[in-house]
Amino acid sequence: MTEHTATVHKATKHDSGIKHVSGRARYIDDVPEPAGTLHVVPGMANIASGRIKSLDLDPVKQAPGVVAVLTVEHIRGENDTSPAGIADDPVFAEHEVTFHGQALFAVVATNRLAARKAARLAIVDYEADAAPILSVSDALKADSEILESYQFLRGDPNAAIANAPHRLTSGMAIGGQEHFYLEGQIAMAIPGEDGDMTVLSSTQHPTEVQHVVSHILHIPLHAVTVETRRMGGGFGGKESQASQWAGIAALAAQVTGKPCKLRLDRDDDMIMTGKRHDFEVSFEAGFEDDGRLISVDTVLAARCGHSADLSLGVNDRAMFHSDNAYYYPDVRIKSHRLRTNTVSNTAFRGFGGPQGVLFAERMMDDIAIETGLDPLDVRKANFYGQDDRNVTPFGMVVEDNIIDNVVSQLEESSQYRRRRGEIDLFNQTSRFLKKGIALTPVKFGIAFTLNHLNQAGALVHVYTDGSVYLTHAGTEMGQGLYIKVAQVVAEEFGIDLDQVKIAATVTDKVPNTGPTAASSGSDLNGMAAKAATDQIKARMRAFIAERFQAQEEDVIFADNKVSAGGSSMTFGELALEMHLERISLSASGFYRTPKVSWNRDEIKGRPFFYFAYGAACSEVLIDTLTGEMKVTAVDLLHDVGKSLNPAVDIGQIEGGFVQGMGWLTTEELVWDDQGRLRTHAPSTYKIPSASDVPEHFVTKLYESAGNQEDTIYRSKAVGEPPLMHGISVFSAIYQAVASIKPGVKPQLNAPATPEAILSAIASMEPS
Ligand code: MTE
Ligand code: MOS
Repeated sequence: MTEHTATVHKATKHDSGIKHVSGRARYIDDVPEPAGTLHVVPGMANIASGRIKSLDLDPVKQAPGVVAVLTVEHIRGENDTSPAGIADDPVFAEHEVTFHGQALFAVVATNRLAARKAARLAIVDYEADAAPILSVSDALKADSEILESYQFLRGDPNAAIANAPHRLTSGMAIGGQEHFYLEGQIAMAIPGEDGDMTVLSSTQHPTEVQHVVSHILHIPLHAVTVETRRMGGGFGGKESQASQWAGIAALAAQVTGKPCKLRLDRDDDMIMTGKRHDFEVSFEAGFEDDGRLISVDTVLAARCGHSADLSLGVNDRAMFHSDNAYYYPDVRIKSHRLRTNTVSNTAFRGFGGPQGVLFAERMMDDIAIETGLDPLDVRKANFYGQDDRNVTPFGMVVEDNIIDNVVSQLEESSQYRRRRGEIDLFNQTSRFLKKGIALTPVKFGIAFTLNHLNQAGALVHVYTDGSVYLTHAGTEMGQGLYIKVAQVVAEEFGIDLDQVKIAATVTDKVPNTGPTAASSGSDLNGMAAKAATDQIKARMRAFIAERFQAQEEDVIFADNKVSAGGSSMTFGELALEMHLERISLSASGFYRTPKVSWNRDEIKGRPFFYFAYGAACSEVLIDTLTGEMKVTAVDLLHDVGKSLNPAVDIGQIEGGFVQGMGWLTTEELVWDDQGRLRTHAPSTYKIPSASDVPEHFVTKLYESAGNQEDTIYRSKAVGEPPLMHGISVFSAIYQAVASIKPGVKPQLNAPATPEAILSAIASMEPS
């Protein structure tokens, strides 16, 4: 396939890249405030679980600068911000507190500092429960479930394990993760006439913010307009959890009649918004001499927090990915979704998938220890194959499997085998320093498993100078969605990229959208934009064919010109002439993902349109005396089909890897026994920095003819899958620890902080 393209498939820089690094990219807090703008700060509960006996807000109201103090009584509509319609996420807790940090009220003041000071003056009398349910183990003991358990079952896993030549039992704790978007949660609400409300929101889901604002204010959807120009990172943390803050800002604007802005303080943001779900995983497996699995039985227990939020989808996706790239003949995957008195956990890059994949990779490492085989050989023995070895535990056939190729190529280019031999020698002679290397695969399903979300729209206008306006359902959070969709539009019209205006995402331009999530932004919106350009181009073709006495099929859009039969005119001339002939130069496009279906009750269907693949090889060095760890080399090979934009995609792969590495090494969330988050600032919560990336950090795109499914320019989604490459670092640490005592499985939990590494070492050397 030698398709010539001018704009698509080219490594174009991010449209806002220079603005990001020079401080000229406008975030909501940079938008000039209308005169009289008020500032809103939520007041929070300081118990984890109990009842509110009395709430005295008089001192708050009397504080300097305070204009209003909002409580449940100000809400004309519903006291709810929940995404799933379960109505378990109050704007303000009314009688009952269900987590420490829950919003009870909000202060509206003339400036932010005054509002923050006043928020601390509330006098709350609680009847606190003696023993809040805080952890996965607390919740399991108390049988505290927020959603029903769910399972995939094939064959008779217990019998198969009992009869297998080899068996193992293992498990691990998997920590959560704070999103640490650089721009925190923020919204500005501007009241209009007739009770209308315009909300600027840093959200991945403007339509849902529109819904939540409409429900809280008790006004129709048509009266609420939500605009999102960009987020300074979302990572899933603004998929559902931007709504509450936008809702409170809008409520403040409704009550005061003034523009109102709410920007959460960083500590409050970390305390009041949900994170990646932490899991406790336990499993049993039966396998052959060569490490090939016969049967898998696993239990995934997740802390969902005090409300359901997106936990159904997140936990389902953990189950969907607990096979990673491996075929499990007999299998049970059981999932518990636990209610705790902690903040409601939510979407985070991978949406539960990474926790499932980490389980699978731990199982491979454990089998390697039990058999003495190289972990890579165990992995390869278990890859999905042909015919009878290509059906997932949920019954979907893997039709596009390329994992053998991806892994073999990386094995070669990273020189895994040679380095593995060197590391074994090093570990034999080095007493305190130990090395580890791991090569792990990723297979990630692309599509929303909630089927109605697999749709998008776009709006394209051509103006009479030939410049083009583009907006679509997707939001920009730094991932490069806007530039990719603009590339598609420029390519289709045959015009330069700078002729396309990338406009903000607004609910009155493209209505009824889903969130920008599940990595499907460019798949959905690229196609929707193309559907819009197709319509305008059809009108242009007809016009040109008539003008130049040519065939419509012969009309070519290229080099800012439209030509046929040896004649041409510029794209701008054509636009103007069509306008004079009264032909519309505007269109809205729509796209729905084909082939996907999922019946959750019957465990039937094809939840994913296709799979994205990749592999990572990481090498680490640990100090067994201190638990310190250093990542010394990383090689990544990742499949993005035919890349829409290799520069942006490589950025996503590198960034995803680093974020995954942070999740599994340094990012540790700690709650105390009263349910207070102790790690609520960068001083106590450590995300990776530039110096945590090794000098040898090589990222390559897997070369292929492109997506075998008909996606936009045969590209593949890239946003989430590379996060799971961070698992190679965790696995390498596991190898390094395991080298101390061959044949013994270390008890290493994630994140593998120095403490966790030391404790795993101690677990192997009973004193
Ligand atoms: N990249 C940046 N720079 N910032 C982000 O917030 N979010 C990730 C990923 N990459 C994110 C990011 C998540 S969680 C998802 S689902 C995808 O981007 C969403 O965008 P896409 O569907 O356009 O890939
Ligand atoms: Mo991404 S976790 O699907 O927002």
